[in-house]
Amino acid sequence: MNRSLVVIGLQWGDEGKGKIVDWLTGHAKAVVRFQGGHNAGHTLVIEGQKTVLHLIPSGILHEGVSSYIGNGVVLCLRAFFEELELLIAAGVPVVERLKLSPACTLILPSHIALDQARELQRGEEKIGTTGRGIGPAYEDKAARRGIRLADLMDANRFKALVRDLVRYHNFLLEQYYQQSPVEVEAIIEEWLGYAERIQPMLADVSVCVKEHFSRNEKVIFEGAQGAMLDVDHGTYPYVTSSTTSAGGAASGSGVGPRDLDYVLGVTKAYTTRVGGGPFPTELQDDVGAHLAKIGQEFGATTGRARRCGWLDLPALRRASINSSLSGLCMTKVDVMDELDEIKVCVAYELEGERLEIAPLGAERLALCRPIYQTFSGWKTSTLGITDYALLPDAAKRYFSFVQEALDLPIVMISTGPDRRQTIHLLDFFAD
Ligand code: GDP
Ligand code: IMO
Ligand code: MG
Repeated sequence: MNRSLVVIGLQWGDEGKGKIVDWLTGHAKAVVRFQGGHNAGHTLVIEGQKTVLHLIPSGILHEGVSSYIGNGVVLCLRAFFEELELLIAAGVPVVERLKLSPACTLILPSHIALDQARELQRGEEKIGTTGRGIGPAYEDKAARRGIRLADLMDANRFKALVRDLVRYHNFLLEQYYQQSPVEVEAIIEEWLGYAERIQPMLADVSVCVKEHFSRNEKVIFEGAQGAMLDVDHGTYPYVTSSTTSAGGAASGSGVGPRDLDYVLGVTKAYTTRVGGGPFPTELQDDVGAHLAKIGQEFGATTGRARRCGWLDLPALRRASINSSLSGLCMTKVDVMDELDEIKVCVAYELEGERLEIAPLGAERLALCRPIYQTFSGWKTSTLGITDYALLPDAAKRYFSFVQEALDLPIVMISTGPDRRQTIHLLDFFAD
């Protein structure tokens, strides 16, 4: 019996995790975000109504479900309250449903300024970050000069910490990057203004999750970004700054690895990437443009166009190893409905050798050439199909091939953006 389910992206983000977590949360009692920050953009569509979440877990719309932001998340309180207000205006009782770990590292405006200054300095080599201060906040956390949510609860201590940190940030901004400094007292005033509202929402997330387990309640751990953006295992340095692999669910919410039961990896039926870095199966042709158009491949956070390409099995094999995947969820199948033929990258060619697993880091991956296998398209609409049996045979052949090639079962399929446009082939939480 599974008590917990970790849901992670297997590619470069935007696999449809938000939709899947929202769907799954209907069968659970709690959902925990464990890494990343407001670089994420998770889109939920329920009966045609769209909600975009960045920081707040994708289970928030469910009554009777507790949502948590774990210690592994880097938290911009301005972004948090903007999101909270929008949800409250839409009638979602966020304050009653959501708790945050006091150990979350805060993102301040100076982290955002530094993120943008660093990108500017890299020029052509820029990572293509979301410009949300994610990297600098994680740097400060690792360097032990980060400011945590708990620190905000003591105004004098908070002031001293922020003055110290921003002095350092402003030194970098002015002296190293030749950029304008940020105004420290304005930050202090704005952030202290959030303290009173956030205080009742703090909770020891690890203990709360343990209590859910002890009541035999099911818990979902919601990943952001994707495996190829993992700071260790992705296309470094073109990555985000957190552990996006399943192990991050343990460290980022304060539970042990034995508490993670089922690991569900979400992949699109093709691949997208937003930002810089190598992308072996990228299509810079009409097919890529078609996927972008039908799939509406524009980022929910920055509005940037997503690069599109074929499904990449070597990349998925690496993700499967890094996250000890239990099963796959394949999304956006309907986006490929009109294609005459569909290619899958089954291996790479690198310096005359065949590679089954994507190499670590960006440098070697950039030299890899995809080896494709071609499938015929199904050329019929799969939009909104909820019964596996009703899928066209060509689509079933595509799924069977992927399952065998990765030695993983496909346990969920998504055939449209709406919550109900979902096929589930496994009852994750059956007793
Ligand atoms: P996330 O970051 O992994 O949560 O994914 P995003 O929400 O950023 O991007 C996925 C986009 O695809 C969103 O606009 C979803 O509404 C949409 N989407 C999710 N699943 C499907 C699907 O099966 N078919 C189609 N056509 N769109 C989908
Ligand atoms: P969700 O959760 C897609 C990418 C950025 C950039 C790199 C580093 O919606 O899947 P960062 O701002 O994190 O320092 O940027 O990571 N990136 C994402 N790409 N989906 C996301 O989140 C992303 N979050 C970060 O585009 O290439
Ligand atoms: Mg997204």
